[in-house]
Amino acid sequence: MNILITGAAGFIGFHTCMSLLTNHKIYGLDNLNNYYDVNLKKSRLKLLKQHKNFDFLKIDIQNKNLHGKFKKIELDIIINLAAQAGVRHSLKDPFSYINSNVLGQINLLEFARKNGVKKFIYASSSSVYGGNKKMPFSVKHRVDNPISLYAASKKSTELLAECYSHLFKIKCIGLRFFTVYGPWGRPDMATFIFTKKIIEKKKIDIFNYGNMQRDFTYIDDIVEGIKGAINLKDKYRHKIYNLGNNKPENLKRFVSIIEKELKIKAKKNLLQMQPGDVAKTSANINESKKELKFNPKTSIDEGIPKFIEWYKNYYKH
Ligand SMILES: NC(=O)c1ccc[n+]([C@@H]2O[C@H](COP(=O)([O-])OP(=O)(O)OC[C@H]3O[C@@H](n4cnc5c(N)ncnc54)[C@H](O)[C@@H]3O)[C@@H](O)[C@H]2O)c1
Repeated sequence: MNILITGAAGFIGFHTCMSLLTNHKIYGLDNLNNYYDVNLKKSRLKLLKQHKNFDFLKIDIQNKNLHGKFKKIELDIIINLAAQAGVRHSLKDPFSYINSNVLGQINLLEFARKNGVKKFIYASSSSVYGGNKKMPFSVKHRVDNPISLYAASKKSTELLAECYSHLFKIKCIGLRFFTVYGPWGRPDMATFIFTKKIIEKKKIDIFNYGNMQRDFTYIDDIVEGIKGAINLKDKYRHKIYNLGNNKPENLKRFVSIIEKELKIKAKKNLLQMQPGDVAKTSANINESKKELKFNPKTSIDEGIPKFIEWYKNYYKH
C-alpha cells in the first residue's frame, strides 16, 4: 500500500514508519518544529531515510497546498500522528494546539476528500477522559469534560473525523494512546526526564506526592495496535479505540525500576498535582483486543530497561 504518515520524525511516527517500511511505500511528513530537540527528530529521520521505501517531505500539516503535492500518488491510507503534544505545555501555548491538532486534522481530512483517500487513522489520547472517575476508561464513556486544552484539541479531532466520515464516506479510526514510552521516546515525558535527571544527579519532580497511576504502554505494543487499525476491515464508518497497557502502574514503582536499572538512587521533589493532569489512567481494551488484535505484552519491568539501554547508547553515558 501507499501510506502517508504525518509526524514521521516524531516518537510514535518514527516507530510506525520503521515497522511498515518493509511491506509498504511510506510517505513521511513532518515540520520538524522545535518543541523539543530537533536533532533527535533528525536522527530518527536519518534512520528512516536509509530505506528505499521511505520518502520524506518537510511540510506543515496545516499547509493548504499539501494535497496538491500528492496528486499523482494514489494513497491508500493517511495516518495522522503529527500534533502538538504535551498536557502541561498547553497551558503556556494554547494556539499551537489549535493550529497543529485542530486545523492540521481538518486540512488532512480535506486532503483525504480531495484526493479520494478512503481510510484515515489518527492519534487521539487518553487525556480526553479528563476528570472521568469511572475506571477503566472505556470508549463507551462520555468524554465531554476535558481538563486541559490538549485534551480539548484531541476531542475536537475526534469530532472532525466523525463529521468527515459521515459527509464524505472516509473510513476513520481514532486511537486513544495511553502514556507511550520506549526507545527514541519524547524528552518531555516522564521516562526520559527521570532517566536524564537521575543520571545527572538532579532532583526529579514527583507530582501529586507520588500518588499517580499511569497505564504506561510500550511503543512496540502501540505500533501493533496501529497495524491492527490498518488491517481492520472497513466494517465501521468511524470507530475509536483505546490503546493502553491495561495495567495501571504506580509512579513510585515506575521510578524504582529506573533507579534499579541505573543503579542510582533518585533525589525526589514531592509536589502537589499539576493543573490539567489526571491522577490515574487505565484503559479498557476489550474492543481493541477483539477487533484490532491488540495484545499489549510489555510490562514496565521489561520496557524501561529497553528505554534506558537506548538512552545510554544515544547520549553516550
Ligand atoms: N507519546 C504519548 O504518550 C502519546 C499519548 C497520547 C497521544 N499521543 C499522540 O500521538 C501522536 C504522536 O505523538 P508522539 O509522542 O510521537 O509526539 P512527537 O512530538 O514525538 O511527534 C509529533 C511529530 O509531529 C510533528 N508536528 C507537530 N506539529 C506539526 C505540524 N503542524 N505539521 C507537521 N508536523 C508537525 C513534530 O515535529 C513531531 O515530530 C500525537 O498526536 C500525540 O498527541 C501521544
